[in-house]
Amino acid sequence: MERPIVICPREAGREYKDSRLSSVLRRALKETGKNAEPVVLYEAQEVLHLFSAEAIGACTENVPGSMDSIRRRVVFAIDLGEDGINLEFERLLRVLRTQKGLLEGCIGGVLIDAVSPLYTKAEASRLVQAANDAGCAFPGKCLVEGAGDLSNFAVEAGNRGVSREEAYSQCAAELVQSVRERCFQKKTNASLLVLHASSHRTSNTFALWEKVRAKLPEEKFSIREIGLRNGFLQDCSGCPYKMCLHFGEKDSCFYGGVMVEDVYPAIREADAVLMVCPNYNDALSANLVACINRLTALYRAASFRDKALFSIIVSGYSGNDIIARQLIGALNMNKGFYLPPRFALMETANAPGEALRIPGIDAQTAEFAERIRSFLTR
Ligand SMILES: Cc1cc2nc3c(=O)[nH]c(=O)nc-3n(C[C@H](O)[C@H](O)[C@H](O)COP(=O)(O)O)c2cc1C
Repeated sequence: MERPIVICPREAGREYKDSRLSSVLRRALKETGKNAEPVVLYEAQEVLHLFSAEAIGACTENVPGSMDSIRRRVVFAIDLGEDGINLEFERLLRVLRTQKGLLEGCIGGVLIDAVSPLYTKAEASRLVQAANDAGCAFPGKCLVEGAGDLSNFAVEAGNRGVSREEAYSQCAAELVQSVRERCFQKKTNASLLVLHASSHRTSNTFALWEKVRAKLPEEKFSIREIGLRNGFLQDCSGCPYKMCLHFGEKDSCFYGGVMVEDVYPAIREADAVLMVCPNYNDALSANLVACINRLTALYRAASFRDKALFSIIVSGYSGNDIIARQLIGALNMNKGFYLPPRFALMETANAPGEALRIPGIDAQTAEFAERIRSFLTR
């Protein structure tokens, strides 16, 4: 399989050759069986040319049963330096946000490094959201962060019985391997689980889901909706790891209830989960957050890597991107769900029913339904 393209935004005046990121990256690329080629540093404008229509013809890879064709495998390697800012990275975001479809058919992963213990997750989420919106898919656990003194690797290093530096290097190598090998297998019939905490009568977000649902072909989908309304769901109690694992292995959790009785079995069965997410104070609503937190017990016992994540997000006035990033962080980067290209339908509507009057909403919901169908089914 071809070597992934490495996009490493290089800010003028910074030295990258002997940086921690460079050495981890070189080792990761070498350990996946290729000779240690020099890491190419791209400036944002070069990325535009690299992925332009003319450049792609020669590198299309067909994988039976997966996405129709995978154009490129891409590792984003971002050095945030001391202050968490890399101006060339900002330019890369501009290219991704303005060139719609630039990364259509690509599969990506992110390696990010900072002198500070801060910023890595936030900047990686911005990148994944922009690249995903430009058409790039991200397998679960698409992020490896070298944050500050690598305290973030304390647990992983303990589990592996190695130093933090070695754990960082090994995780980076596994990330590159995953980017090179992973793809999503399409199904003849797909099972879609819809999680919401909305009122059927008044919610704009739920109304958009109903529109999307009407456009999904019945013969290809088995759809299950679970409502997580107030009073039904308690947040995670943060049990000790071993206790959580003990419950998880029995498909259970300390609190039981709707999560154990309905959500866990439905997630085990699902090929994809679609989250119906109104913006509540620039965050997911409390019950949806509780649901994600409570997935931890199941996650200890089962992998979500072959399950895709979709979402419908509606804000009254602004902030859809914040909700999308929250989902990417929690469910793709942390819990390991597969992020299909352009995973979220995002709209702005406030008064009840307003979403259905958005100009062009029929076409947008139809396009989103088709995106779900074509990603999940053959
Ligand atoms: C508790 C609460 C907090 C909200 N916070 C925000 C917000 O921070 N930003 C925003 O754009 N809209 C906010 N809204 C408006 C909703 O996002 C808006 O009503 C939208 O239509 C989605 O909600 P719905 O699916 O329940 O209709 C909030 C609504 C509620 C009830």
